[in-house]
Amino acid sequence: MRKILVTSALPYANAPLHIGHIVEYTQTDIWARFQKMRGNQCWYICADDSHGTPIMLHARQKGITPEELIAAMHEDHQADFRDFRIGFDNFHSTHSDENRELASLIYERNLAAGHITSRKIVQAYDPEENMFLPDRFIKGECPKCGAADQYGDNCEVCGATYSPTELKNSYSVVSGAKPIEKETEHFFFKLADFEDMLKAWTRGGHLQPEVANKLDEWFEAGLREWDISRDAPYFGFEIPGHPGKYFYVWLDAPIGYMASFKNFCEKQGLDFDEYWAEDAGTELYHFIGKDIIYFHALFWPAMLEGAGFRKPTTIHAHGFLTVDGQKMSKSRGSFIKARTYLDHLDPEYLRYYFAAKLGSGVDDIDLNLEDFVQRVNSDLVGKVVNIASRCAGFISKRFDGRLSETLSEPELFKTFTDASESIAEHYEKREFSRAVREIMALADKANQYIDEKQPWVVAKEEGREQELQDICSMGINLFRVLMVYLRPILPGTAESAEAFLNVAPLQWQDATTPLLDHEINKFKALMTRVDPKKIQAMVESSKEDMQAKPQKSAPAKAKQDAIADTIEFDDFAKVDLRVARITKAQAVEGADKLLQLTLDLGGETRNVFAGIKAAYDPGELEGRLTVMVANLAPRKMRFGVSEGMVLAAGPGGKDIFLLSPDEGAQPGMKVK
Ligand code: 2FM
Ligand code: ZN
Repeated sequence: MRKILVTSALPYANAPLHIGHIVEYTQTDIWARFQKMRGNQCWYICADDSHGTPIMLHARQKGITPEELIAAMHEDHQADFRDFRIGFDNFHSTHSDENRELASLIYERNLAAGHITSRKIVQAYDPEENMFLPDRFIKGECPKCGAADQYGDNCEVCGATYSPTELKNSYSVVSGAKPIEKETEHFFFKLADFEDMLKAWTRGGHLQPEVANKLDEWFEAGLREWDISRDAPYFGFEIPGHPGKYFYVWLDAPIGYMASFKNFCEKQGLDFDEYWAEDAGTELYHFIGKDIIYFHALFWPAMLEGAGFRKPTTIHAHGFLTVDGQKMSKSRGSFIKARTYLDHLDPEYLRYYFAAKLGSGVDDIDLNLEDFVQRVNSDLVGKVVNIASRCAGFISKRFDGRLSETLSEPELFKTFTDASESIAEHYEKREFSRAVREIMALADKANQYIDEKQPWVVAKEEGREQELQDICSMGINLFRVLMVYLRPILPGTAESAEAFLNVAPLQWQDATTPLLDHEINKFKALMTRVDPKKIQAMVESSKEDMQAKPQKSAPAKAKQDAIADTIEFDDFAKVDLRVARITKAQAVEGADKLLQLTLDLGGETRNVFAGIKAAYDPGELEGRLTVMVANLAPRKMRFGVSEGMVLAAGPGGKDIFLLSPDEGAQPGMKVK
């Protein structure tokens, strides 16, 4: 039995998960479930990545502590993972005692071995907020092309990279103040100390070939010292012996893999060292996105080596997710949160679709929504589930649910079981799309068999009872083998199939033995077809998610709103703001965030959809005055036409406040 520890990248604890995240968790989960089915010991470990400036500022902006923010997000993330059937053995947090201890230990061992140095650097500082500013929290005009509102590290217009000090008219996105330069002492990890080890390790079969090639470019550019410290105020762990200095979030994030496992070991009575000691004979795999290879393939093995821990067996990077061929976009409704997907569609569909597209490389994968509907309906509903539904009724009604005592077509059954090792190999190598192709080819064979044997004809003829039972038993056995093969991808469907087959959770070796002289349960539909209307509803809800949150979610962007570019008076004069009375407010069926408002503009009535459902009960709005943009062009939405917009303020969700003039103002009055 192999002993395997597998991880997915730790999601940041300041934002909900989206379907891009789900690619990686699905990929890892399938692999981990496969290992467990093969009889290996496999622990799947993850945690929230809970530290850093964005989390600190996000909490501050919401008026809560970072601890409160990460606790709330932990709940949300766990609910999303549970509902997508991501079967972590442990999901912890980097803001934990175990992580504090391990981060300090790894730092201290590297320090003692001479791999950490310190020196003074000059950094941008916000004199109003009294904090040093990461590059992403400084904006200004691009020094190359002059584009306004560019971040401190690169220009999104011309692609130039530069340092924040080169920006023109720079400002802090936290306060709007002009940053000053200030000296501060920082700690650095001497990555170059590990150059020889890393060159050998990255070519030692621990990385995908295309990733190893990429690393060669980084080696050529030279391994620079890595700044591992940040100044207060910072949400993270203080560096031992250096009050006011904190570990940079990326130092303690990967240590979070160890910390979560340690927490798990303490709960389960397992031996932590068996997996992390320098000479551990167990296997360690990290699944990550291709954007964080540098951290995992260079810093991480070097830190581990410097502290006397084992290095990963392999690191598996995957590509990004596009939707309908394009980067996920909030305005197109293709930036789909995990929860929004779950509100409309079955998680098994997406798990299957991603599996059908995932290979072992770093190519991006595309979720084409039309193809998604077609593929799930034709493969899962039309082929796999169909096999069981074509045979089950006869077994229940005519044979009291009992399967035949012998297999009538052992050769056909053998074709199915013979595929076991080849499919297993595809899973092992993360070639899931190949596994799916092979499984679906078998599903086609099973359907052909039933087509040829025509049990519905046999059923009508007298004296062919045994034949009928044999055909249907055969069909159900073929279905069962397919469910063994699909179980890592479709754990929910497999569970329903196990209930129908009246068997214990399927293991890989179950594929080789048929189910005979065995009573099965009544068949219930294992999966329904994807309804394209639900896809459309999900896309609309994703657009609503954006509407309901008029302020951009990143704290930097939210703050930036306060100091947005100026507009001319003429621009302002174009906006016709009017007092309106809400005469009716009601929930909108099928919309999670919207209320439908009927507004009286002093004689004229308007219908407006507003993303304020989380903040208000419709009843408390009726009769209230508000301010609306009266000359906004009507907008066709899924639920009807919205004829204007009401004004509200706040970060969104429950914290959104409708602007209300004092009573005395009259509906229709122009706002000046
Ligand atoms: O890129 C990210 O989303 C990080 N939160 C991943 C961290 S993975 C590990 F190193 F903790
Ligand atoms: Zn530029």
